[in-house]
Amino acid sequence: MATASKSGEAELAALRQQLLRAQRMAALGELVGTTTHEFNNVLTTILNYAKLGLRNKDEATRDKAFDRILSAALRAEKITNSVLGMARNRSDEFAPTELEPLVEQTLTLLEREMQKYRIAIRKEFQPAPPARAVGNQIQQVLLNLMTNARQAMAGGGELLVRVHHDEAANLIDITVRDPGCGIPREHLPKIFERFFTTKSGPDATGKGGAGVGLAMCRDIVEAHQGRIRVESAVGKGTAFTVRLPVWQTPEPAAGAAAITPLGAPGLPSQSPLY
Ligand SMILES: Nc1ncnc2c1ncn2[C@@H]1O[C@H](COP(=O)(O)OP(=O)(O)O)[C@@H](O)[C@H]1O
Ligand SMILES: [Mg+2]
Repeated sequence: MATASKSGEAELAALRQQLLRAQRMAALGELVGTTTHEFNNVLTTILNYAKLGLRNKDEATRDKAFDRILSAALRAEKITNSVLGMARNRSDEFAPTELEPLVEQTLTLLEREMQKYRIAIRKEFQPAPPARAVGNQIQQVLLNLMTNARQAMAGGGELLVRVHHDEAANLIDITVRDPGCGIPREHLPKIFERFFTTKSGPDATGKGGAGVGLAMCRDIVEAHQGRIRVESAVGKGTAFTVRLPVWQTPEPAAGAAAITPLGAPGLPSQSPLY
């Protein structure tokens, strides 16, 4: 009996892993869509200003053309770095992760999309220690939450992204708050369920409508021993908060304690967070 349920558990765990991987591929697909689109915009700018500079020999026009080409190329560089940031951290290992640059990189990827839908970004970043996180996965959570927020703000507006260190709890909070349509009370218990969606299908950017975004967010955050919370009011807006544990320097092994120099400051005790 015990063996049967053990193998059942193992099977379930393997299926969960597979699902996470499939969701990651889907998120990567969406990301490729966004990035390719962004790159195309940048390329168009570069092509047009290169032609302008070639056609016009006067110095002022050429300077302007070079200026525009340079800023477009810098933007391309930023986009590449944001995607490479994901690739670099692909190990699926928990590591000390600075959340502020992660949020910035995610915003870079969505910059043009947000502009297109007339959404301004307000950032409130407070100094915070690194979190214990898989950067890649947290970026997926952020992409999901920000895309949902954007889709809820049909008329545009201001999207708030906040990073806050809760020192008392030793957790880092990331909040994504939109002044969008809000979530009806009767939907709130269902939004984290897999395949729950109120959208008729993917929007013009190919995102949403499958009802897997928040389920994936919940799975990822739980694997981080974190929490995800929602507050919402219809017609007023929605705030999602992800709480992640602060990275703790591993305690030295028992044998290693003997070589700690005398007089070294004691490490704070490391009680489990949950
Ligand atoms: N910021 C938000 N504002 C309003 N509703 C939201 C927001 N985020 C999520 N929802 C609701 O939760 C549902 C599930 O979200 P999600 O799992 O991302 O799936 P999908 O975006 O594919 O519908 C959405 O269809 C929507 O009804
Ligand atoms: Mg979604």
